[in-house]
Amino acid sequence: MNNIATIILAAGFGKRMKSRVAKVLHPIAGIPMILYPVKVAEEISSERTVVVIGHQADKVRDVLSGKDVDIVHQAEQKGTADAVKAGMDAISGCKGMSLILCGDVPLITSETISDLIAAHEKEHASVMVLTTCVEDPSGYGRVVRNSDGSLLRIVEERDADNEIRAIKEVNTGIYVFDSGFLSDIIYEIRSENAQKEFYLTDSIEIGIKKGLRVSAYKTGKTEEVIGINSRIELARAEEFMRRRINNGHMLNGVTLINPEIIYIDMGVSIGQDVTIYPGTIIQGDTTIGESCTIYSNNRIADSRIGSGVTIKDSCVIEGSAIGDGSQVGPFAHLRPGSILGKNVRIGNYVELKKAVVGDGSKANHLTYLGDAEIGSGVNIGAGTITCNYDGWEKHKTIIGDNVFVGSDVQFVAPVKIGDGAFIAAGSTVTKDVPPGALAISRAKQENREGWVEQRRKKKSRK
Ligand code: UD1
Ligand code: CA
Repeated sequence: MNNIATIILAAGFGKRMKSRVAKVLHPIAGIPMILYPVKVAEEISSERTVVVIGHQADKVRDVLSGKDVDIVHQAEQKGTADAVKAGMDAISGCKGMSLILCGDVPLITSETISDLIAAHEKEHASVMVLTTCVEDPSGYGRVVRNSDGSLLRIVEERDADNEIRAIKEVNTGIYVFDSGFLSDIIYEIRSENAQKEFYLTDSIEIGIKKGLRVSAYKTGKTEEVIGINSRIELARAEEFMRRRINNGHMLNGVTLINPEIIYIDMGVSIGQDVTIYPGTIIQGDTTIGESCTIYSNNRIADSRIGSGVTIKDSCVIEGSAIGDGSQVGPFAHLRPGSILGKNVRIGNYVELKKAVVGDGSKANHLTYLGDAEIGSGVNIGAGTITCNYDGWEKHKTIIGDNVFVGSDVQFVAPVKIGDGAFIAAGSTVTKDVPPGALAISRAKQENREGWVEQRRKKKSRK
């Protein structure tokens, strides 16, 4: 929208969180809270967006890097009106409407904001405040109305008497102002209240005194406007956001079995006909192709999963890529830098780190492959280990195509195995193996006929 500028208030520390981390940096569904209102501003095509920051400014700035927002520092947190004042210069060029969002009201959707803006435009209001009715209004500013229902003022809990405290309609902290009105009255707000702070809520009474039209838009979508002040509210917000994300995936054709206990971060993309079982956590920058099955209790973070992939139960997959048709798990650990081609099989108790595994290769049991490049069509036998660390440095194991590695082999890196080579079970490989060669390095077996019987006789004589 061309004629709307947004100020996001995010300077407060959030004492009630009892945290060393500023409130707006606490994540909800994997991303810092502050990024949610920023996203809403983007979605409504806000002409200009300014974020007012204060506590842990450097860290908040980092989180906002790359976003199309101006950042203003409010050195001292003297209240919501003071924060708006701090942000106003940055949007002074925008003449139409000013939308105020709060960094700690992250569940608000652009649909509800669009409804609020439409109501503001329809009523030609100087200010339109977004309100809602809640069962337990404690902590919120109460919306006081006249007997005819028109808006009178907003009273903060600390300044309210018992009668006002009983009101269940509350201020969400979100407003649309006529920009001219906002810049006129922002300096008129005084700090004569219980907290000695400049309250933006006072703009309502000031507007009324000036004989201007002030109004409230009451939304029924209460879950969108919960303010996060404590960890209990954080948990509630998380629950709502998770549900919203999961519903979105289900509407897109993903089957979630018992979605209440499947946790998918904001921004994860999942293709059609993927089935996800309970207890799975999908985090960060992760994409999943189509028609995959992900069984229970997996954690997948910052990874690319192709199509037709099966991930059996209880795997940890971090910073890795899995090609189409591959199968992983149960109990596999793909550490960062693991890249699997197509139709690869990684089985039980296999750990990979910075390992590239070519198409159709298999490591089905009890194996560690670290700093390894493995070609296609390779069989890695049970118990194979790349000895990649000499106590100082990491070294590489390079295995060509169609190599057969028997069980219980150690590759003492750096070592290179040529295409089609065969490594005998139980070998410790310390030298490069040429293509097509057999490598065997183990003590020769000796069988002593009749040894058991002789021993028994010897023992029974004593
Ligand atoms: C505020 C409203 C209250 C409303 C509630 C909704 C006021 C006076 N009160 O109360 O009516 O019901 O939100 O959630 O407006 N902030 C700054 N700088 C400051 C002070 C605050 O940037 O100097 C930011 C905070 O970081 C936060 C937002 O403004 O994101 C709201 O401030 P907060 O202190 O949480 O206000 P509430 O007590 O929740
Ligand atoms: Ca708040």
